[in-house]
Order: sequence, then structure tokens, then C-alpha cells
Amino acid sequence: MASSSFMAILTLALLLQTATLSAQLSTNFYSSSCPRVFSTVRSTVQSAIRNEARIGASLLRLHFHDCFVNGCDGSLLLDDTSSFTGEKNAVPNRNSARGFDVVDNIKSAVENVCPGVVSCADILAIASRDSVAILGGPSWNVKHPPPTSNLNQLISRFNALGLSTRDLVALSGDYIFLMHTLDLIAYNWAIKLLRPNKAIKLPKSLWLRGQQLGPLDLQTLLLLTTTTSRTSSRTKASSILISSCSMVAIFLTLALLIVHMEAKAIDEMSPSFYATSCPKLFPTVKPIVESTIKKEARMGASLLRLFYHDCFVNGCDASLLLDDAPNFIGEKNIPPNKNSTRGYEVIDEIKSAVEKMCPGIVSCADIIAIVARDSVSILGGPSWGVQLGRRDARATNAIVTNISLPLPKANLKELVLRFRGIALKRRDLVALVGAHTLGEAQCHSFRERIYNESNMNKELAQKRRLKCPRSKGSGDANLAPIDAQTPLVFDNSYYKNLVQNKGLLHSDQQLFSGGKTDPIVRTYSEDQEAFFNDFASAMIKMGSVNPSLVQLARSG
Ligand code: HEM
Repeated sequence: MASSSFMAILTLALLLQTATLSAQLSTNFYSSSCPRVFSTVRSTVQSAIRNEARIGASLLRLHFHDCFVNGCDGSLLLDDTSSFTGEKNAVPNRNSARGFDVVDNIKSAVENVCPGVVSCADILAIASRDSVAILGGPSWNVKHPPPTSNLNQLISRFNALGLSTRDLVALSGDYIFLMHTLDLIAYNWAIKLLRPNKAIKLPKSLWLRGQQLGPLDLQTLLLLTTTTSRTSSRTKASSILISSCSMVAIFLTLALLIVHMEAKAIDEMSPSFYATSCPKLFPTVKPIVESTIKKEARMGASLLRLFYHDCFVNGCDASLLLDDAPNFIGEKNIPPNKNSTRGYEVIDEIKSAVEKMCPGIVSCADIIAIVARDSVSILGGPSWGVQLGRRDARATNAIVTNISLPLPKANLKELVLRFRGIALKRRDLVALVGAHTLGEAQCHSFRERIYNESNMNKELAQKRRLKCPRSKGSGDANLAPIDAQTPLVFDNSYYKNLVQNKGLLHSDQQLFSGGKTDPIVRTYSEDQEAFFNDFASAMIKMGSVNPSLVQLARSG
């Protein structure tokens, strides 16, 4: 069932914009009856996305679900009545479709400015367009083709509107959001086929509107790969996508493409990438990291964490550093970064120093990677040759942030799945989370564990409770070391803690809670060198996720 729904959506994704016939629609329908409709909708959508970025995806999906059932008529919003059961409560909407409250808010706001004029169906359409635009995607006012079009009809309709086949493909990129909602079965299939031991790289041809999309979202990759193959070979693609498309063919095509991309991308990164263009890069970075850590040792932890948070969201492309812009919301200001990640000013300082030395050469993404390595080694951990040659992102999809990074309440299965999503194995997961040998966490991140979990060391729980009150809202930001023994030294005491049930975060203790990762934790707790070796190679792997290659861009 799940796989067939996935397949159906894949096929239909190409066809979808809205189900309404373009002949009856106009983009200035409300220009005299409700001239403020667009600004009213947009500001409500904007504030909803500010509260929770994911709501943008949910609103887009509402439009999709509305259009696919009896056309785009707002029928999705109808509640149950005595004469019919509403669509809200039908599978696949029940417990899944969301954002109805936001649509209600928009409708009220619109009713305030022009009562009884604008239909809910139109509000859904505008809200979905605005969600995409606010989250970094395109905006449009295209009259949409009916969903019954085949590929040739779609192409000629788009051509008639002055849009190329490429535009058609880019517009189909809207479905990246929809794909987020697809079930885990499809996700797992993709992961298996993508050979999880390999890092995944995207070539320039998979960029959407100048923004490179990350491999974290394999569904995105899948869709874009299929749409890209459609651009390059219409006939072949139409036979794959439009007619009786074979799931296996799609996945195999994807897997082959990715294997090809991997080989190309891995070849092009190297620790000596700047050896001639910026030979003093390393000696410029390290002293600044050293003096920063001298002033405040915890900053080493914070800098290391920046690298992880950068790499897990759209790959290591410094998208984490982007401030809010008119067309997207930055990653910094949404959970789990908001009021938590720190050290941005240190990266700025280092970037300035590097720019003085070799202007316009070194990417911020590479600087973050070097800084993470230096922080670890300065605090007593291993060192490694950092692969370099990443390219910085110019925009970001904030929504990916809170779906990419696992939360501290995650269980082992989820952690493994998330890491596998970017080609990191179970062993890499255990080694990388060893970074929690450094740094601190806020009370809200571990409150649940110290009050409610039976596998928490009682003495430690008692101690942590002193500064972390039980009730939500009090002392939320109070800090405690994640590694109770040596939070300012990079060593293996984190694992020693875990085997004594002294993991501070729920997600930490999950690594040693009777599952398959127990033996790895035990090994690291007894053998620091094994931990150091594995940590170094896992950091290289994590750092190779989706590097946006400078050479590739220059040669393109
Ligand atoms: C397994 C998934 C992970 C989860 C659920 C997780 C969760 C967290 C949480 C909740 C905090 C405390 C944040 C706060 O309360 O403000 C934290 C801190 C930290 N995390 Fe993770 N983390 C994970 C993996 C990693 C990885 C892979 C690294 C690096 C390779 C890392 C490095 C750090 C560091 C160094 C800190 C301390 C930062 C500081 O003191 O500023 N974490 N993590």
C-alpha cells in the first residue's frame, strides 16, 4: 500500500499544479474586489512559518490534497456533517494533514479586509505558493494545467506560457516538500539502494534554481533525479514516469546516478585543495581557535557542534551561517539551533582573517570543517586531514533543519535511521556522538530524562535536578555538562558514563540501552584509541556529505 502510494505520488508529482482549468482562472481575479488578498495571506503565512518552519510544507500539502480530491475547491476544509464525512478524517489526511488552523487564521484575516469575497480554495492556493517562496523556493502566478496532461501536453502548455521544459522540471520541484511526508518504507528502500556506506554527492545538474539540494532528503533527491532525467531525455523519461512506471527502474536509475556522482565528487575533494591558492590557511585558522578556547574552553565544543549542524542540513555548505533573507528563513533561528548553537562570531573572525590572507578563495563550509578538527585536537582529541573543496550555499531551506537533526528525545532506531540517511553507519553514529564528551546542554534538553527515566543513574539525576527544576518553563536554559567527568577534555569518559547509565540526554543513553550499539560503546569505553580512530574517520565521512564542489561550479 505504502509503496504504491509513493509510486502514485511520484507519477502524479509531474502532473500536479492544481486541478482547476486555466481558462476559468485569472491571476487578478480579486484585484478590484479584494486588492489586499495577497499581502494579507502572505503576512499570515510568514508569521506561521516563523513560529514553525514545517508548517510551510504542511500548507503546501493541504493544497495538494485539496486539488486531488474533486479538484481545488476547498472541500478538504469541510468538517463532518450529518450528511457526509469530511475529507479531513479520511486516510491519508487523518492524523497527517495539518495547518487547518493556519488556513482558518488566514481566512479570518482575509474576511476582515474583504468579507465574503475570497474562496477558501483560493486561499489554499495562495498560501501554498507563499509557503514555497518564503522557504526559499520560487514564486509563480502560472495558470495551472489540468492534472490529466501527459508529458507532451505539459511541455507544450508550459512552452505556450513562455516556460521551458526546464521550468517545468523546476516547478515540479515543489514536490520536494510533499515528498517529506511520504512514508518511511519508501525512504528505507531508497537508503538500501543508495548503499549506505557511501557519501552521496549531487552534481550541478541537480541544483534547483541555483540552490543545491542536500542528500539528507533522499525523497527530494529521488524526485529531482527522476525529473532531471526527464529533462535530458523526454521520451525515455516519459516512459519511465508517465506510463506504467516501474519502481525498481526509478530506484535503480537513481542509485546508478548517485554512484556515478559519488565517484566524481570524492575525487575532487582533498586536504591540499588550497595548497597553492591559500597556503597559509591552516596556520591562520588554528591560532584563532587556540586563543578562543583559551578564553573559554567550552567554545571548542560549540564550534565542533556547528560542523555537525551544518553537515546534517543540506550537507556541509555553511548554510547554517546564513541570516534570514527576504526569500528564506535562516537555519540559525529555528529549532534546534535557536538559542542553542553558538560560536558564529568566531567563524566570522576566522573568515575575516582568511579573507585578508587570500581574498575570495576559501569557503565558509571549509572553514567550519577545519575549525571543528582544530577544536577537537586542541582539547586533547585526535587530528585528521580535513577534506576541502566545499562550496557555500547562498540560500537554505529552513524546514530541513528541524527534520534533519535528531532531537534529544530520539530513540536508537531513529538515530540510526537519521545517520544512515546521510550514509553514516551505526558505528559512525556511536563514534560521532562521542563529541558529547565536550560541552553543555540546557535543562529543557534533559529534564524528561532526569525526572522520568528509570535507566538514569540516581545520584547523577539527583545532582542535575538541583539546577533543573521539574516544571517546564523554570530554569529551562540552565546548563549542565553532558559528560559529567571531563567536559572540557576530549576523551572517552562519555562512553564510561554511558555504561554506568550516566548519559545526560535520552539520545545519549539510547546508545547503551540493550541495543546493537552496546558493544561499540563498551569498546570505546575501554579503548580510547579505538574511539579516536573511529571518530576521526567518521568526521571525514560526515564532512564529505554533499560537498558543493568549487571546481564543479567553475567548470560548469
Ligand atoms: C545523535 C544525535 C545528536 C543529538 C540528539 C544531539 C543533541 C544535542 C543536544 C540536545 C545538545 C545540547 C543543546 C542545548 O541544550 O542547547 C547537544 C550539544 C552538543 N552536541 Fe550534540 N547531538 C547529537 C549528535 C552530535 C554530533 C554528531 C556532534 C558532533 C560531531 C555533536 C556535538 C555536540 C556538542 C559538542 C555539544 C555541546 C555544545 C556546547 O556546549 O555548546 N552532537 N547535542
